[in-house]
Amino acid sequence: MKRNFLTVAVLALITACNSPKSIDNEMNRFVDELMGKMTLEEKIGQLNLPSIGFDVTGPILSKGVEEKIEKGLVGGVFNTYTPEAMRKLQELAITKSRLKIPLLFGYDVIHGHKTIFPIPLGLSSSWDTALIRKTARAAALEASADGLNWVFSPMVDIARDPRWGRVSEGAGEDEFLGSAVARAMVVGYQNGDIRDNSSVMACVKHFALYGAAEAGRDYNSVDMSVSKMFNHYLPPYRAAVDAGVATVMTSFNDINGIPATCNKWLLTDLLREQWGFKGVVATDYTAIAELENHGMGNRQEVAALSINAGADMDMVSEYFIDELPALVREGKVSEKTIDDACRRVLEAKYKLGLFEDPYRNVSTERAEREIMSEDKLSLSREAAIKSMVLLKNNGVLPLQKDKRVAFIGPLVKDKRNLIGNWSGAGDWKKAISVWEAIDSSTNSLYALGCNLTDDKALIDKLNPHDGQITLDSKSPQQLIDEAVQVARRADVVVAVLGEPFGMGGEAASRSNIDLLSNQKTLLRALRQTGKPIVLVLMNSRPLTLEWEDENMDAILETWYGGTMAGEAITDVLFGAAEPEGRLTMTFPRNVGQIPVYYNHKNTGRPFDENQKYTSKYLDVANTPLYSFGYGLSYTAFEISPVTLSGNIASVKVTNKGTRTGTETVQLYIRDLVGSSSRPIKQLKGFKKVTLKAGESADVAFEITTDLLSFYNAELKYVAEKGDFEVYIGNSSDTENKAKFTF
Ligand code: GLC
Repeated sequence: MKRNFLTVAVLALITACNSPKSIDNEMNRFVDELMGKMTLEEKIGQLNLPSIGFDVTGPILSKGVEEKIEKGLVGGVFNTYTPEAMRKLQELAITKSRLKIPLLFGYDVIHGHKTIFPIPLGLSSSWDTALIRKTARAAALEASADGLNWVFSPMVDIARDPRWGRVSEGAGEDEFLGSAVARAMVVGYQNGDIRDNSSVMACVKHFALYGAAEAGRDYNSVDMSVSKMFNHYLPPYRAAVDAGVATVMTSFNDINGIPATCNKWLLTDLLREQWGFKGVVATDYTAIAELENHGMGNRQEVAALSINAGADMDMVSEYFIDELPALVREGKVSEKTIDDACRRVLEAKYKLGLFEDPYRNVSTERAEREIMSEDKLSLSREAAIKSMVLLKNNGVLPLQKDKRVAFIGPLVKDKRNLIGNWSGAGDWKKAISVWEAIDSSTNSLYALGCNLTDDKALIDKLNPHDGQITLDSKSPQQLIDEAVQVARRADVVVAVLGEPFGMGGEAASRSNIDLLSNQKTLLRALRQTGKPIVLVLMNSRPLTLEWEDENMDAILETWYGGTMAGEAITDVLFGAAEPEGRLTMTFPRNVGQIPVYYNHKNTGRPFDENQKYTSKYLDVANTPLYSFGYGLSYTAFEISPVTLSGNIASVKVTNKGTRTGTETVQLYIRDLVGSSSRPIKQLKGFKKVTLKAGESADVAFEITTDLLSFYNAELKYVAEKGDFEVYIGNSSDTENKAKFTF
């Protein structure tokens, strides 16, 4: 049917009015008009991001925030939530300030808001980007229902040093997996349209290279070649930007001498000009003030350095509102710089729809409907199951229901640690402990066994920050004796041990990453009973577990599994669910090996046991205890040799065991010869496949030119002709390979 001219014209007009270009024009007109009314101080006020409320996530607390809101000197606040609290703050801005510009409301929603999911290092171990996206979506539904419109997540810092406590917040050591996780989380949070009031602005952090802090000591310096930056550490940030992340947070560290928070090459040349990022750059907590500690100048100088480098919002230090007006008047900072930064903040608010409806997220009805809803709790349980990594199993798992099981350890009945670090809004009292999840029909026994730690100095550091570590009235020896008695009455022992959650996350680096000594003493005593022992771990980071690997019958890494961790752990222990996690960060044999990671270079003298003069240690193997990509199942998978047909590499995967299981098939590529030395292998693809006992499936990967490309010494992204090897297996240790020439 021929549409008449008028219909076509009307449709064209409607389309034109809704095209991104016309929305941009509309936004530009609105922002131009608003900025035309703003004083310099009010423009700078939009760059101020103080902390207000019950959470303390940094060294100082903002003061006089409400008065500053009334004066139009606040662009957004963070560390508060609930519809009631946000309504009150938004009312101040809308009713008291001269121009009634609505506030942004941010919060650290890192692995869930009220329903807590496994810590990100755990979630990444699921290798399930659809699941990860769903957890971010669920977090956005809860956070937006709780009055928030901005989450300081995802944290995508690549990390190869488990001494750093913040490895718990990221996706491990690999740029390919880290980029996939970054994309999934940005999409989950923003859901394609931040105007929708169930979406929130995401914030990729910490830009950049924070995970390479020297010696794994938090906030420490980063020195790195640009080749290593572009090939290994920058890709996840870039992935988040390409996925449309609305905001970026600068990191505390310096990069080759220039702190990220005043690094113009990083924030303007790379992020904005090369990557095309158009959103808001917020600093990390008092990071501008800390430029003085970095030795970059006095208050005025560091404020100018940071805004001129490309930072838009000043988190907590208030150097922008204190110093920028005079700096502009002295000509040390141009008014255009202020205008550009202010515009980006106003555009974010416009895109969120806050000018239309400043109270879009403050509905108690939505909060009641969304928060800790059944579907989110079951998603949390699913995520906890899929994040667990079975590191060792001599057949003792899954447990038989008719066996008498002794659950021993300070984390058996614990709930606070289950939700881990960066779980601010989470209610640990609603978490399900391992003990609560045990089916009462199983004749299970319990003993505390030991305190979470006996180290009073450590307790004094952790308890002021919600550590909740208590010392039992019995002596450590009495606790052990009691546990040994209980173990003797059981067929099998399940020891639930690990790190207090405060030993992970920010400002929580460790120089020794063993299990805590009192816990190891308990394990040795239990070992003496001769009973089979299943070690269930709850921890923030890879630990050094050589003794445990030699002496435990099974080791199940559960990370901090979130609100439903207890249910998930017992599901896996008793075989109702299959452990399907695979490590995304290498577990070293000892701290001396660090940094140890799978995608290392070959060197000129690769290890050869028959040759003295090769790259090795005299006292430990080069190989890690558990490798990137490693994890066991309750069933057994066989992966056929790699076949290559054109640019398709494939294998047949067969479940040779007796129960359904899920394998994560991993594709690695090695560039045998390059214009610069190339890693011995790099992850370039992964697919999960679930197979019934006896079932097989073909798993194929397309080898694209992009998968062969890397940043060469001139920082050109190139795929160089030559010979390659393609590996397909179930960990980075695989030697299942085929050769091809590109
Ligand atoms: C903290 C963290 C950062 C967090 C911010 C706000 O210092 O480094 O990850 O988002 O402050 O709480």
